[in-house]
Amino acid sequence: MPNSSKGNQICTLVIFGATGDLTHRKLIPALYHLKLEGLLSSKVQIIGFARQSKTDAEFRTGLKAAHKEVSRTLYDEEFWQVFDKQISYHQSNFDDLEGYKSLEAKLQAYEKENNTPSNRLYYIASSPSFFGPILDFLKQSGANNSVDGGWRRVIIEKPFGTDYDSACKLNQAVAGSFEEADTYRIDHYLGKETAQNIMVLRFANTIYESLWNNRYIDQIQITVAEDLGMEAGRGAYYDQAGALKDMVQNHLLQLLTLVAMESPVDLSADAVRDEKVKVLRSLQRLDTPEKVKKNTVRAQYAQGSVKGEAVPAYVDEDRVPKDSKTETYVSLRLFVDNWRWKGVPFYLRVGKRMAKKSAQISIFFKQVPSVLFNENQKLAENVLMIKMQPDEGVAMKLMSKVPGSSFELKPVDMNFDYETTFAKQSAEAYERLLLDTMSGDATLFIRKDEVEEAWKFIDDLTAVWKEESNDIDLAVYEAGSWGPAEADALISKMRHQWLEI
Ligand SMILES: NC(=O)c1ccc[n+]([C@@H]2O[C@H](COP(=O)([O-])OP(=O)(O)OC[C@H]3O[C@@H](n4cnc5c(N)ncnc54)[C@H](OP(=O)(O)O)[C@@H]3O)[C@@H](O)[C@H]2O)c1
Repeated sequence: MPNSSKGNQICTLVIFGATGDLTHRKLIPALYHLKLEGLLSSKVQIIGFARQSKTDAEFRTGLKAAHKEVSRTLYDEEFWQVFDKQISYHQSNFDDLEGYKSLEAKLQAYEKENNTPSNRLYYIASSPSFFGPILDFLKQSGANNSVDGGWRRVIIEKPFGTDYDSACKLNQAVAGSFEEADTYRIDHYLGKETAQNIMVLRFANTIYESLWNNRYIDQIQITVAEDLGMEAGRGAYYDQAGALKDMVQNHLLQLLTLVAMESPVDLSADAVRDEKVKVLRSLQRLDTPEKVKKNTVRAQYAQGSVKGEAVPAYVDEDRVPKDSKTETYVSLRLFVDNWRWKGVPFYLRVGKRMAKKSAQISIFFKQVPSVLFNENQKLAENVLMIKMQPDEGVAMKLMSKVPGSSFELKPVDMNFDYETTFAKQSAEAYERLLLDTMSGDATLFIRKDEVEEAWKFIDDLTAVWKEESNDIDLAVYEAGSWGPAEADALISKMRHQWLEI
């Protein structure tokens, strides 16, 4: 589990796909900030591997320009000059074995010259179609093999497969080149400070854990809303995937496991992941048309307006087919069939082009018995809100007396905001995750069985959605709204309402 003593491990980080968007906007800024915090050893070498022909200087210039735009701290040219000495470029096609061999020779020469351990971290940040081939070429070139005691680790970006079968196939490719213990399947939501805080909130506070079950909790809502539509160039990929595979299979199910899991025996990576995978196994399957119609809503955005600006319908976005039936919004009512959660609905909703960007988990506690104050006025439930985006924090909705001579009650919020409390901006998820991989801590990464279980659940559901004779409607919502009316109806079956965010 993350601890403060991490950092300054010596290794070489090779990024496959280093001229891409992820490297420019997330990985390099994350490494810069690790260095700024004194957590990145000056002996760490960062090597970008991609197809374009570039000199080291050209590569660094491109990274610098992107970093300046997105940096979460004030850009410091002098510091960048120190940092970028650690960065170089290796040009090769992903499917050219010679490129991996020359990389291996370069790494060995560097390690010998600088007398550094041969620890290697391979970050596969390419398009998913190259995940398998890159793993295979790493093996063929011997780059996966430790000859002198140094470690070899691999980080694999999302999406990890497109269904259960492809995920299993990819897992086999991974196993052919790396040990499971050295494999880090990334889900950047787990690197967010508040996601990590879910366990702390639950297992380090008596008041919450003692109430964390179906006797006291009425319902749980997990919302991940984006106000953006299709980002440039993403339309074709997104249209193949849709919101369920792009977001629910990974981020939302991961958040659900953190909220629902039992206390692990300790904080080791496997103990935590053992508990998370049990939650996935306990999920009630949505595998018949009846269950799917009762518990799911899929929808697509029509034109509308976001932040006062008119925006097009999904089917009018760049690279999206005009007759697309892909969902840009999903809401689900899920049940975790175990002793703790029997009967408690977990409502998940995720969508693009919604009213605002927000990621939040809301735990609704049961109402007090209606004997005292609530005879004449409706009492709001206590809600614990774990806020992940745009600001990170925790808030609790409580009933309070309005000052004055009468007994009028009103819901109020008790707020804890990360930035204000700790007078420090939260690190970006990729900072935490890169630090953990260098330190060999896989707690915040997805294990093989987790990814497979999640796909099994999603495959059941998509099979029903896909079958035309099941006649599952694609609902419509206006861009800039909170989703379709069908999603309100879905949760009102149990007299619940989506929390206004
Ligand atoms: N971008 C994000 O914010 C984000 C967020 C979460 C996850 N991810 C995941 O991260 C991965 C990378 O995403 P991205 O947005 O960075 O992709 P991208 O911008 O399309 O970059 C792709 C990279 O792969 C390289 N490449 C493509 N074909 C190649 C080949 N045949 N040989 C060698 N290099 C080749 C490109 O190099 P050239 O420039 O030389 O063609 C480029 O460096 C994907 O799996 C994505 O799902 C991205």
